[in-house]
Amino acid sequence: MGRELFRVAVVGCGVGRNHIAQGYRRHPEGFRVQALCDIDAARLAAVVDEFAVPRRTTVFDDVLRMDDIDIVDICTPARLHFGQILGALSAGKEVVCEKPLVGSLAEIDRLIAAEKAAAGRVMPIFQYRFGNGVQKAKRIIELGIAGKPYLATVETAWKRTPEYYEAPWRGRWETERGGVLLMHAIHTHDLTTWLMGPVASVFGHTATRVNPIEVEDCAVASLVMRSGALVSLASTLGSQREISRLRLCFEHVTLESTHAPYSPGDDPWEIVPASPEAELQIAEALADYRPVPSRYEGQLAAYHAALTTGGPLPVTLADARSSLELITALYHSAATGTAVPLPIAADHPSYNGWGD
Ligand SMILES: NC(=O)c1ccc[n+]([C@@H]2O[C@H](COP(=O)([O-])OP(=O)(O)OC[C@H]3O[C@@H](n4cnc5c(N)ncnc54)[C@H](O)[C@@H]3O)[C@@H](O)[C@H]2O)c1
Repeated sequence: MGRELFRVAVVGCGVGRNHIAQGYRRHPEGFRVQALCDIDAARLAAVVDEFAVPRRTTVFDDVLRMDDIDIVDICTPARLHFGQILGALSAGKEVVCEKPLVGSLAEIDRLIAAEKAAAGRVMPIFQYRFGNGVQKAKRIIELGIAGKPYLATVETAWKRTPEYYEAPWRGRWETERGGVLLMHAIHTHDLTTWLMGPVASVFGHTATRVNPIEVEDCAVASLVMRSGALVSLASTLGSQREISRLRLCFEHVTLESTHAPYSPGDDPWEIVPASPEAELQIAEALADYRPVPSRYEGQLAAYHAALTTGGPLPVTLADARSSLELITALYHSAATGTAVPLPIAADHPSYNGWGD
């Protein structure tokens, strides 16, 4: 794009409010939130007033007709994402969209094709990748210092009460499309594959035990990674103390996140080298480490750099596809009681969607 200031329309004033407060507002030189859209006029008015946003609409298509808008940031319920992303790409916009990006591998493959033909690109949100703990771990692994991956244990133990499910779209297969695996543990699982590499095979179990809902709120899974490493995933929405925790054992280092539930990427990660040589290599690798801002602020800083330079997006459709492929495999395994090998191709029975 070759310029510095990008005008944004945020669609959906739930977590969309956080995108403004914790993201765009922290980069006033790079982004200006010019328009807000929500079908709930009262909610829209509250956020418009809070941030003095110049323009508002309750109609998504109005946003697409706004010539001065560069970026459409989609924060609506997930079942709407696919159509809204396609619409925004067709209108020539850059697109940011919340997780889960879409509801099937078929849909994301259509988005990948649409993005290739469009002027704009799509950046899925995976804000937990932006934290200094996980960024340092990523650097140690990418530089080859960590060595052979052995095993990871990953917990997402959060709490959701019946009030959370008062939003009419939550808790049902038709409208939410999944439970703890799709909506909550998706973040820690994304961090897991980002750090441990691609998955070869998945075996999962799901259960609904915490709230009276259709979708799962407890899940466990064992993964065999393409490297041969093993990973165990445990996720629940019934934990009285909330934690997110990743513990990654490599040949030359063990890496462990904090237990902070909503900032698993943040410092301080515990970095335990296996030898004085590994300790020295890690110290050298981190000597010139430059801290990144956390979560939305960090992802949007990296996004701005990619827009101004034309470089690769910090999170891509390929990243969202890997996440959705793991989710597809987890649901298919839980439904069939079988191990599911990856990759999942177009002739797989769950390629067009999981659940119901
Ligand atoms: N990355 C994260 O940590 C994180 C956290 C929370 C939610 N999310 C994701 O963000 C998305 C929204 O979740 P939420 O918690 O904000 O939900 P929410 O129900 O609180 O908010 C969604 C908003 O979208 C509005 N909306 C619905 N249909 C619309 C339409 N056609 N056009 C414009 N606005 C419309 C609703 O009125 C509502 O205000 C979901 O995909 C969710 O998974 C991500």
